[in-house]
Amino acid sequence: MKISASLMCADIFNLEKDIKKLDNADIDLWHIDIMDGNYVPNIALNFNHIEKIKQISNTDIEVHVMAEKPDRYIEKLVKAGADYISVHLETIKFPNRILNLIKSYNAKAGLAINPGTGIEDIKYYIDALDYVLIMTVEPGFAGQKYIDTVVPKIVELKRMIDQQNKNIEIIVDGNINIENGLKSINAGADILVAGTSSVFKNSEIDKNLVEFREKLKVKSNV
Ligand code: DX5
Ligand code: ZN
Repeated sequence: MKISASLMCADIFNLEKDIKKLDNADIDLWHIDIMDGNYVPNIALNFNHIEKIKQISNTDIEVHVMAEKPDRYIEKLVKAGADYISVHLETIKFPNRILNLIKSYNAKAGLAINPGTGIEDIKYYIDALDYVLIMTVEPGFAGQKYIDTVVPKIVELKRMIDQQNKNIEIIVDGNINIENGLKSINAGADILVAGTSSVFKNSEIDKNLVEFREKLKVKSNV
């Protein structure tokens, strides 16, 4: 079980301080939201953030791309330091091709799917996937409400992965507080994205992370 801290929810005027605090509390991954202001009406973080984070932290960087034509960004994201890259299935024509492109750079390749997108839309790509990012909110903004109808989809995906004995991780992203985190874990989540409902709910972010793990009975991976 891993926790991925969504840095678009961090104190953007003290990002380095927040990163160091969470690294000291053994955060497992950095969740970096990349938005184009077109696919979603917001901007969030960028390539420079990834480069700077790589300079000050050894924690793996998991990038969530919410942009049209995401194939344009893969090489730049990897060169900036991305270790995981997920692109929205809803923004691409040829998923196998982009997943293999990501893996050709030795990054982990994932598909992100919105609340309304079904598992049947990704089952044909299961051999190319390292992970699936399941959105429990509509993409583009932090601080939204968890969409409970997505939970059965997590269960369905976990069942498909187990039935085919695949080594595919499930990341759940959006309004992950304790209650929604437990629901997501019980449904099959391997990684939870921690944003404004948990780690970044106030300025005591390292204490929040430790408390979040304890309440989820989740131990860090170290
Ligand atoms: C939304 C992003 C999420 C968001 C999570 O488009 O993909 O990662 O930052 O923030 P919370 O946990 O507040 O929903
Ligand atoms: Zn995200």
